[in-house]
Amino acid sequence: MLEPRSGRLYASAVARWQRSRHLRTVTWLLFFFLVISFLNQCRLRLAVSDAFHSPGWKNVGTSAGPVQDHDAFDITNQAASMEAAGNSTLGFNKIVFINVKKRYDREDAMAIQAYLAGLDIEDYPAVTPDMIISAGMPPSHRINAFKSAGIRGCYRAHANVWSEMVRKRSPPVLIMESDAAWDINLRPIMSDINKQFVKFLHKINSTSLPDPSYAGRFHSSSSSSSSSENTKPSKPVYDRSDPWLSSHWDLFSFGQCREGHQDHDIKLEWPAVHPPAGKFSYYGTPLNKTRVLRKSGGIICLTAYAVSHQGAAKLLLRHALDLDNPVDVLMQRMVMSRDVVAYSVNPPVVAQWAYRDGIGMAERGSQSDVNIDQNGGYQDTPENATMNGWKEVQHTGTVWKARKGWYNDGLFENMALAVAWKNIMPQGAELRRSMRNPPKK
Ligand SMILES: *[C@@H]1O[C@H](CO)[C@@H](O)[C@H](O)[C@H]1NC(C)=O
Ligand SMILES: *[C@@H]1O[C@H](CO)[C@@H](O)[C@H](O)[C@H]1NC(C)=O
Ligand SMILES: *[C@@H]1O[C@H](CO)[C@@H](O)[C@H](O)[C@H]1NC(C)=O
Ligand SMILES: *[C@@H]1O[C@H](CO)[C@@H](O)[C@H](O)[C@H]1NC(C)=O
Repeated sequence: MLEPRSGRLYASAVARWQRSRHLRTVTWLLFFFLVISFLNQCRLRLAVSDAFHSPGWKNVGTSAGPVQDHDAFDITNQAASMEAAGNSTLGFNKIVFINVKKRYDREDAMAIQAYLAGLDIEDYPAVTPDMIISAGMPPSHRINAFKSAGIRGCYRAHANVWSEMVRKRSPPVLIMESDAAWDINLRPIMSDINKQFVKFLHKINSTSLPDPSYAGRFHSSSSSSSSSENTKPSKPVYDRSDPWLSSHWDLFSFGQCREGHQDHDIKLEWPAVHPPAGKFSYYGTPLNKTRVLRKSGGIICLTAYAVSHQGAAKLLLRHALDLDNPVDVLMQRMVMSRDVVAYSVNPPVVAQWAYRDGIGMAERGSQSDVNIDQNGGYQDTPENATMNGWKEVQHTGTVWKARKGWYNDGLFENMALAVAWKNIMPQGAELRRSMRNPPKK
């Protein structure tokens, strides 16, 4: 794609540089290529730990073929891959948003963030108690493991996505829960992660996982079919049509609250673009404007995770056999048993938002959907509710914040919900000017 044009066209290219978008793109690609090959020659050391040989670290597949030449990492298509990973569906087939229909407030918060960050997100209906009966739940060896309709509904909403993926043998999908929050620059952030992720897979000698689907079993990679699905490389190379190389993993978390210890030394750290502002550390090492990609030790919180079609099949099958744990706990157990190959990025790039205190929303039960079947569900803000949060709202122009407890402050450089007012309203606009009887300062 890069080679022949630039030499002959040099003189006119300079002249046309300002006008031609195409030419600019080609030149940038060429520039990128040169810089990257130079860095490669210098044997840029990746911060991949040496400790790869932990027991059981096999299920990513060990290379059975000829020995890989590790210094010759092929960066063909790197820019195209990064561009795809930063498109409006972040390089996935689609982004789905699981939300209870009645939570219009969360739908609106998602819409505002998607608008500012340039994302295309599809609604996916949550499963409410009225949509579930016991007879329609999978068996469970723990008779009364969990009866909460909220927890059952949560499992089923995720399982509905997996089921659809399995039925369609769908390319990877990014699943977001309704309280997901992200940075205004999420697209460039994901491009940056993508560039490192392929390097990371290369460094750990990852190879494709088996494709157990009918198509995978009966159309092997040597088939002459032009379908790119069946000719996926088994080793990690940049690929614009599947930038996250979904044949190499089952699950990829971008929004975990916490993560297990297992395999934490299988990692890659790099200086990130739009890094989190806060102070984070990774097992004692401070992350100074850097991020870490790691083999997952099992995530808590399903705020934002991608699933591949073979991952969806594993999750659906395991849950159908024995629903003995809430969905996120069971998924964590599958990662820890190494039946599921999972990666994550730290600190995460998607977090949960919550309402600020003192604006009457906690009283309504707005902070969670899991407990909707308890305490009579939602209610109105009572007359005597504490409303001291509004003083702050009128100055900051936001009712949202990152949920406390799971994260340090400063997970985002520019949290979309926090900067929405500044970005959408005219410069210098103040909420109090359009408020009726604004609270005194
Ligand atoms: C983003 O890129 C992925 C991978 O190439 C592709 O499947 C998806 O359709 C693209 N999204 C859009 C909106 O074009
Ligand atoms: C990857 O393979 C190369 C060559 O076979 C080997 O030298 C290297 O130690 C392997 N790396 C890991 C993380 O297994
Ligand atoms: C973070 O990195 C910058 C630039 O590399 C350096 O100047 C600074 O001292 C570092 N801060 C900490 C806390 O390590
Ligand atoms: C508000 O009123 C209810 C019932 O009258 C009472 O139980 C509750 O403690 C009051 N809350 C506050 C914050 O005063």
